[in-house]
Amino acid sequence: LDGGTLPFDLAGKRVVVTSGGTREEIDPVRFLGNHSSGKQGHAIAALASARGAEVTLVTSSSLPVPPAVTKIDIESARELREQTLEAAAVADIVIKAAAVADFRPADVSDSKLKKGSDGEPAEIRLTRNPDILADLVAARAIGEVPSSCVLVGFAAETGDTSGTVLEHGRAKLARKGCDFLVVNEVGRDTTFGKDDNGGWILDSEGGEILVERASKDLLAARILDAVVARTTT
Ligand code: CTP
Ligand code: CA
Repeated sequence: LDGGTLPFDLAGKRVVVTSGGTREEIDPVRFLGNHSSGKQGHAIAALASARGAEVTLVTSSSLPVPPAVTKIDIESARELREQTLEAAAVADIVIKAAAVADFRPADVSDSKLKKGSDGEPAEIRLTRNPDILADLVAARAIGEVPSSCVLVGFAAETGDTSGTVLEHGRAKLARKGCDFLVVNEVGRDTTFGKDDNGGWILDSEGGEILVERASKDLLAARILDAVVARTTT
């Protein structure tokens, strides 16, 4: 992040970045969570700030807050939704690097869950969380988020019998209705918590940028370059 060589091409732009995982409460001492470290979102927030943007980072991550970035702490997907929609109301760019839990426990116990008298585990019923990215797209359609706001989603995919990583990414971009989708290939030993990342930046007009596996800073730069290119053409 050498300020001397960076473009100052986000001056005056308001950028909202979400990062890290969510924690969905089960009882006062337990939660459902995921392995997202927040590193990729933090890299984007740091670089956007260094390139002149006014950055709001909505996150559960305890990584150090990058210089000049405003951090908003969240835990659950519902808190993330509320804070992201509020910040997005005045944003030029929203980048959703957070790994949002799709489900949360349907009932949160006020007291610590105990083993049953037979020693068997209690079942935890799950319910759907709101889809924040879809809600942002809907909010933009009705003017609650500026119509010029660029919405960037992330998708961590593994290929499977129904399609490759890239095919799943294309389908997800179409389904989500955002402007860009950054697609990473994930497995047990890749991406989460690591310092490198790679994949594709897909745009809603059919464009596709391959980003070789390299630092999360490089992927952050490529994402911001792609967004700037769209906002200035
Ligand atoms: N996302 C979101 N709200 C959710 C789930 C996901 O805003 N409840 C966002 C993520 O932050 C990410 C993008 O949507 O930017 C894609 O997340 P992903 O989990 O890949 O998409 P899903 O639609 O949940 O699809 P899947 O069933 O593959 O998990
Ligand atoms: Ca999901």
